[in-house]
Amino acid sequence: MAHTETQRHGERLAVFAATAPGLEPLAAAELRALGIQAAPEPGGVAWSGTAEELYTANLWLRTASRVTVGAAEFRARTFFELERHARKIPWERWVSKGRAVRLRVTSRKSKLYHEGAIAERVLDAIERRVGSLAGAEVAADDEGDEDASDAQLFVVRFVRDACIVRADSSGALLHLRGYRQAVARAPLRETLAAAALLGSRWPGDAPLLDPMCGSGTIPIEAALMARGIAPGLAAADREPRRFAFQEWPDTDLDAWKRVVERARNAIRPAAPAPILGSDRDAGAIEAASANAERAGVLGDLALTVAPVSAIEPPAGRGWMVSNPPYGVRVGETDALRNLYAALGHTARERAPGWTLALLSAEARLDAQVGVPFADAFQTRNGGIPVHLAVGTV
Ligand SMILES: C[S@@+](CC[C@H](N)C(=O)[O-])C[C@H]1O[C@@H](n2cnc3c(N)ncnc32)[C@H](O)[C@@H]1O
Repeated sequence: MAHTETQRHGERLAVFAATAPGLEPLAAAELRALGIQAAPEPGGVAWSGTAEELYTANLWLRTASRVTVGAAEFRARTFFELERHARKIPWERWVSKGRAVRLRVTSRKSKLYHEGAIAERVLDAIERRVGSLAGAEVAADDEGDEDASDAQLFVVRFVRDACIVRADSSGALLHLRGYRQAVARAPLRETLAAAALLGSRWPGDAPLLDPMCGSGTIPIEAALMARGIAPGLAAADREPRRFAFQEWPDTDLDAWKRVVERARNAIRPAAPAPILGSDRDAGAIEAASANAERAGVLGDLALTVAPVSAIEPPAGRGWMVSNPPYGVRVGETDALRNLYAALGHTARERAPGWTLALLSAEARLDAQVGVPFADAFQTRNGGIPVHLAVGTV
């Protein structure tokens, strides 16, 4: 990868949108709809893009967890080689003097294996080019990265002595849209809720019901899609959340403003079809309402306290997309089996012909529903393997 001293507008960046495993094709389809051709790779999608595409991907991607750009690729088997290459990286494109920096370093099957020592050399190279930093930390993996840190993150990865350095453009993980402050039990990541909707092939203009909506993540993500609201604008005032690239010294802020303006102009005033969420727990519905209000989509949703057995799907055909509880603790299995069976019974009675999509962890429980399912994708939710089972009632 060639190093340039200054960013020229129109220059191509090596962009990578990271996703949870199994969601790569969904992110690639999202990008295609945005006019960006990207290739799925394990763990995300890659393309060579403009700065404007980078801003667009951050604002619009519903299923990606973060977007990074390539800073350098080189081979290094000694610290001397690492230092030589690291000092040539144009760090000043992504950090200025006085900023805080965070490094995430991993090394596999490489001569340089001491991650702390690698981080030390890289931080020294950054300071040599940009001046002293406000602080430097070495980050753990993304799972523990929930806090919105202000520091500019760089990812340094050694595999078989080949080093890839990437600059993070997102900042806080992209599932942190900002609207979800009230949580019920076992909330679903916003990115995974969006993936369930996309994986179910819900078209956005047909009725949608989540009969176990908890804190409302699936109905809220559905309303954002139905109204064409970019997930980065999921605040009631439609101001974008913060992204790391906004702090980069060479970011084209006019281009960013244009991307935001276009996204605001694309918003539809209302969802074209009913979006319903229910849960038997009144506290969950309270949380869902507060979250929907913060996202500015409360008016698009009908949220009610009701057990699965009392749902009232609207007439016509629609989609039921849900993330039912799954058994992790011993002793819950019988109750869960009954719950999945009750869902199947109610769906056959009141929603024949509907598409049913369940984000669940156990095929044995899915089987209780009595609908022929096929997996749309398999992924992980908080470390647990889960899948999206999709079928027609
Ligand atoms: C895994 S949580 C859903 C989390 C949700 N997707 C979110 O983002 O917050 C499962 C939900 O199913 C609800 N639930 C369990 N049994 C139910 C029943 N019989 N009828 C309705 N809701 C039920 C629970 O109250 C819980 O909120």
